[in-house]
Amino acid sequence: MSKINLLLGLQWGDEGKGKIVDIFTEQHDVIARFQGGPNAGHTLVFNGHKHVLHTIPSGIFHDKAMNIIGNGVVIDPSIFKKEIENLLPFNLNITEKLVISRNAHLILPTHRLIDAASEVSKGKAKIGSTLKGIGPTYMDKTGRNGLRVGDMEHPEWMEKYIALKEKHLNLLTHYNVKLDYDMQELEKAFFEGIETLKQFPFIDSVQYMHQAMAEDKKILAEGAQGTLLDIDFGTYPFVTSSNTSAAGACTGLGVPPNQIGEVFGIMKAYTTRVGSGPFPTELFDEIGEKIAQIGNEFGSTTGRKRRCGWLDLVALKYAVQLNGVTQLLMMKADVLSGIDILKVCTSYKYNGEEINHFPFSIDDDLLQPVYTELKGWHKDLSEVKEPSEFPAELMEYIQFIEKYLNVKMTYVSVGPDRKQIVKLMS
Ligand code: GDP
Ligand code: IMO
Ligand code: MG
Repeated sequence: MSKINLLLGLQWGDEGKGKIVDIFTEQHDVIARFQGGPNAGHTLVFNGHKHVLHTIPSGIFHDKAMNIIGNGVVIDPSIFKKEIENLLPFNLNITEKLVISRNAHLILPTHRLIDAASEVSKGKAKIGSTLKGIGPTYMDKTGRNGLRVGDMEHPEWMEKYIALKEKHLNLLTHYNVKLDYDMQELEKAFFEGIETLKQFPFIDSVQYMHQAMAEDKKILAEGAQGTLLDIDFGTYPFVTSSNTSAAGACTGLGVPPNQIGEVFGIMKAYTTRVGSGPFPTELFDEIGEKIAQIGNEFGSTTGRKRRCGWLDLVALKYAVQLNGVTQLLMMKADVLSGIDILKVCTSYKYNGEEINHFPFSIDDDLLQPVYTELKGWHKDLSEVKEPSEFPAELMEYIQFIEKYLNVKMTYVSVGPDRKQIVKLMS
């Protein structure tokens, strides 16, 4: 019986998960997305093409691997259809390589409207949601009102859809917000998306996953967002509405915790965040601007500018603990080339006291980062293939992180392309 390897983000998302899933698909038979929805944007770059996936797992470009959209995922049929259409020119035989859990919940057009109304009504306190309807869909899931993929096979599907839509339209009247929308147009896209979804096998995913494990298949679970956006453990309320941490893989795929094998923790060499919420190490100077420009830090889903800052090791330690990370993968090391002094946050000043853990609140007024300074490097890393070519300062940066987090780093990424990856150890 095989174990499931787990790959997830350790920060506020966009760490580079998609790129690594794509690379690791070579060594796996099944890639399974376990939570989130089209709020995710996972970027893959190879053969001169850039692909951004939202709902479809990042193993889809490989010939052999099967891709699963797990029960923990929320699916917007209209976005799913667009994703499928974007992939058509690449002749991927997608209908044979992608299966969908019957238990996954559907994002209705009215979920998106509620998301928008909720954000507008919050004013300055808005979450900075991607407005994909994620929060309202998970609310309906936990509120036991949601519609699932399997419901489409049910004779009362249309009645169920209409009942939920009516409920949402009623709810919308309670927000004192005027939204412009054309329901007919939204529903047209939704039902066209439903037809696209129906071209794929719907599966009883617990049975599927357990059979794959029994057949000794190599399985990689693909996380979306990042640990600091977790509904329970993130910077609440500025989080997403699912468990983005390791526990979410068990509930999002129906696999027991003792079946988890390696836990690959993906981190950027610095920190970014898109949307609102506290960010202790955020930079507001020219270094932050330089990182944003060189790192091309614009959201893959919304195009919004990502906020950039120094590496926060206190927050990373928290993420490593929560997820049981067994291997660290550091992305975007190339972006830090050319900065003389690199700061890393190694403790916080919280209410006047120095602390080493991630506290209840990391609000800016209560908490300031305490930095350790490390020497930067100037070498262009984009062509580096072996760790022996790394500048000594980068090796020191890596070793400092490993020591602080007490986890081995196994890969360093030095550019967006599939080939720009350096293996540190076997
Ligand atoms: P994900 O959501 O975790 O899959 O990450 P995103 O795709 O949203 O954001 C990561 C961005 O960084 C994408 O534009 C990637 O193409 C890019 N990227 C990934 N790894 C590297 C790297 O090592 N260096 C550079 N410069 N860009 C990278
Ligand atoms: P990937 O998988 C970065 C952020 C949003 C917002 C908050 C809530 O590409 O790493 P939501 O739409 O979920 O209600 O938004 O979470 N967010 C992400 N930030 N990467 C993501 O996904 C994100 N998905 C959601 O910006 O602050
Ligand atoms: Mg992303």
